[in-house]
Amino acid sequence: MLSGLEEHINGFRVISGALTVEEQSALLMELAEIVRAAPLVRPLTPWGKPMRVGMTSAGGYGWTTDRRGYRYEPAHPETGRPWPAIPERLLALWARYSDVETPPDSCLINHYPEGGRMGLHQDKDEADFNIPVVSVSLGDPAVFRMGGLQRSEPTSSITLYSGDVVVIGGDARLAFHGVDRIKFGESSLLAAAPEFGAGRINITLRRAAAIDGAASAASGA
Ligand code: SIN
Ligand code: FE2
Repeated sequence: MLSGLEEHINGFRVISGALTVEEQSALLMELAEIVRAAPLVRPLTPWGKPMRVGMTSAGGYGWTTDRRGYRYEPAHPETGRPWPAIPERLLALWARYSDVETPPDSCLINHYPEGGRMGLHQDKDEADFNIPVVSVSLGDPAVFRMGGLQRSEPTSSITLYSGDVVVIGGDARLAFHGVDRIKFGESSLLAAAPEFGAGRINITLRRAAAIDGAASAASGA
């Protein structure tokens, strides 16, 4: 791992160049293996609109959505099989950037094809908001938008490049964020993984369940 250049924007911790190109390629191969076992799906929002990204997960819980709402599930919605394990490389990244000792139990893998984007939202389906979300970008750059704790607050945006890490924690843990658009075709990284197709991958590492394991992951939109 590189040390990366770190900046703080609206409480979001952005580490540019956290992964070397070699690490990005190795990670991509591990994600391709996950997708072969747990295929990408384009889930429906609770309002019945298909998401603009393909999704799958690794770890104990995968984030999913359909007409029943946003939630974490222990199995793939189509295969019914448990999610594959989170790659060691990502557990190491979490250990380095999350500042919590407990490992993540959820690794959401989003693939943004041409035209992919994600509306402004909060990550709030997890049991404990003291634990951050650690995001890793691969492939095409994305215009990432960051706001405050209310949707109406002013926002700012930055471009996230392949190998960048964002930590959404502390005062920004429940801050609104989203992806305006991707700069399709600017990176050739994903060409090595036909499992995804061109575009961008974003990985979010999270702790869905409470740390004592007693409470189940929060559910509902
Ligand atoms: C997300 O908020 O879940 C995705 C963020 C990103 O794609 O960078
Ligand atoms: Fe998010």
